[in-house]
Amino acid sequence: MDELEKLNKITDDVDKELESVSDLNSLQQKKANYLGKKGPFAEIMANMKNLSVEAKKEIGMATNKVKQAIENMFEEKRKAIENAIIQKKLEQEKIDVTLPGVSLPVGGIHPLMQTVMDLEDLYISMGYTVAEGPEVETDEYCFEKLNLPKGHPARDMQDTFYINPELLLRSQTSPVQVRTMLEKKGEPIKIICPGKVYRRDADDATHSHQFMQCEGLVLGENITLADLKGALLEMAKKMFDKDRKIRLRPSFFPFTEPSVEVDVSCGICGGKGCSTCKNSGWIEILGAGMVNDNVLRMSGYDPSKIQGFAFGIGVERIAMLKNKIDDIRNFYINDVRFLNQFKEEK
Ligand code: PHE
Repeated sequence: MDELEKLNKITDDVDKELESVSDLNSLQQKKANYLGKKGPFAEIMANMKNLSVEAKKEIGMATNKVKQAIENMFEEKRKAIENAIIQKKLEQEKIDVTLPGVSLPVGGIHPLMQTVMDLEDLYISMGYTVAEGPEVETDEYCFEKLNLPKGHPARDMQDTFYINPELLLRSQTSPVQVRTMLEKKGEPIKIICPGKVYRRDADDATHSHQFMQCEGLVLGENITLADLKGALLEMAKKMFDKDRKIRLRPSFFPFTEPSVEVDVSCGICGGKGCSTCKNSGWIEILGAGMVNDNVLRMSGYDPSKIQGFAFGIGVERIAMLKNKIDDIRNFYINDVRFLNQFKEEK
């Protein structure tokens, strides 16, 4: 076979072989077979030395041409394979925009936060502003300026976490009253102060070492116990339902005089008596009273001119009654099965 025939045959062979190649690796392999050192061209080149000058020229040119053509064939095939790969990928990754989407879980408002927000909305609508204070409080603001000097037996009512003899985790939100009075320097006040409080209680269904209160303080001229009752009755009606009643029972707090404990009529039995209200028809929800003269004086108020009332709502109490929750620990365990029940449907 002369050299030109050989060259033609190479082209035919490559043409045929390329038909069945479908991946880049085998293509590379074949290319090396044909164009590499041990390929047919190398053989033709090796034979060149036996040819005449004329033939050398002719065969040399023909060889280069065929080599170039074969390189082009491989290049074209490479492009075709690459395109096929991209095409396949595109088909596989085709997005069906009509498929339903995957919804990502979104959190909701915690039932305690919701209760605080409801209380805030309600009291803001009655002209109150919201005040806040620190959870790490001084003994002076949490107790002394609330008419509870060191050694006072009523301190035992609130078993307190002390950080040192002067600093503690507040056991009530009442120190925010003191802070506000000191700031307002004898001016009228109408605030609520929601926030976390801490007590050294063993956790059980009705006790938590950390819980929430919403304090209220109204100071002005001619504020009476009737105003307190009005502010709390309105709260009971708005937080529960319009048929709710409240009742005030005499009680004791060092910072109020007189002091009352406030019950709301039981929403389960409508006041007739059931297991939730222990057959009394009433459920205790907060402590309150007329601000003690000593407390007013200690924070720069003149009780003969300005007086008023204070109350401390148990936020968990309200949230539990409202949502029929029977264990306070549910609020703090953060079990999503519990929390999801309070998620608003979007
Ligand atoms: N601070 C009281 C408590 O935690 C509640 C209270 C607040 C009572 C304001 C009277 C006035 O028990």
